[in-house]
Amino acid sequence: MRRMKITESRFCRRFALDTAIALAPMALASGGALAAASARAGALGLVGGGYGELAWTQREYALALQQGPRERIGCGFITWKLDEDASALDWALEHRPVAVMLSFGDPRTYAGRIARSGAALICQVQRLEQVAQAVEAGATVIVAQGGEAGGHGMNGLNSRATITLVPEIADWLAARSPGTLLLAAGGIADGRTLAAALVLGADGALVGSRLWATRESLAPEGAKQQAVQTTGDGTARSEVFDILRRKNWPAPYDFRAIRNDLHRQWEGRIEALRADPAAARAAYDAGVTAGDFSRAHATIGESVALVRDLPPAEEIIARMTREAQALLGD
Ligand SMILES: Cc1cc2nc3c(=O)[nH]c(=O)nc-3n(C[C@H](O)[C@H](O)[C@H](O)COP(=O)(O)O)c2cc1C
Repeated sequence: MRRMKITESRFCRRFALDTAIALAPMALASGGALAAASARAGALGLVGGGYGELAWTQREYALALQQGPRERIGCGFITWKLDEDASALDWALEHRPVAVMLSFGDPRTYAGRIARSGAALICQVQRLEQVAQAVEAGATVIVAQGGEAGGHGMNGLNSRATITLVPEIADWLAARSPGTLLLAAGGIADGRTLAAALVLGADGALVGSRLWATRESLAPEGAKQQAVQTTGDGTARSEVFDILRRKNWPAPYDFRAIRNDLHRQWEGRIEALRADPAAARAAYDAGVTAGDFSRAHATIGESVALVRDLPPAEEIIARMTREAQALLGD
């Protein structure tokens, strides 16, 4: 195989990074400390603006700028939620993020104001058919998210696997929009999977789950501990936790997390849960209050298989980069 130098990837060059990794903007987990630690480690650090909660975004984004290099800090939002309230996006744009990532909805509504701010637009897609819309929005980077990913993505009927989605989108972009960069997302969590992403034709990887399981992540400690004990068989996609959390996610999106006892209780009875969620919500809320992750959810993808420790983010980024580079030829 041809030798590939990670630092020479188009993604590293475009954002002046030391490794071809972006921290996924994970709602309530990618806070300022994790974004800053990722940026200091040479990656792109995207704060998880998530549902666009203004006070949370203001606090965590300011912390990221305080602790990390400004030129590697950006922010991400859930697009359909911005359609209800875009004040957190507007606030973030005033602080000149290097990049803004939009996922789960039509990015074209927000593309103009993001471009005027000078930020690069990153669009996360789950299917080939969404790519043309992201290119039309002027995306600098497209993230191809496979169904292995933790958190939200497309449901079983519509999701694709990272291993086939990435090369298909890479070929599409090479033919129609060769200047657009591509990141792989979903299952990228060690040196092998990072090297694989690059071999498949991506310019880098967007890493969620593996950086969720780090010291700086704002995920609850009990959830992280549960992840360390869980194998790759132990997660599932469904609408269960969105219903329990009263999140009105539009179809065709659903959510991957650890398939705990409460999930198993309801996963075969989604319509019954939707029709009468009160008792299950009470059990879920009690689990959250008690820090009991047999009822509360731990948001992580199939790459939980590769999570066996909870070190600082810098150690994970250095380890992934070193091991991937060795596989790609030092
Ligand atoms: C805890 C968690 C929260 C997430 N929250 C968001 C989010 O708010 N917005 C978003 O675009 N993607 C979110 N994602 C999905 C990531 O952007 C990314 O696609 C995914 O983490 C990549 O797969 P991986 O988890 O296997 O690394 C989340 C993922 C996780 C694990």
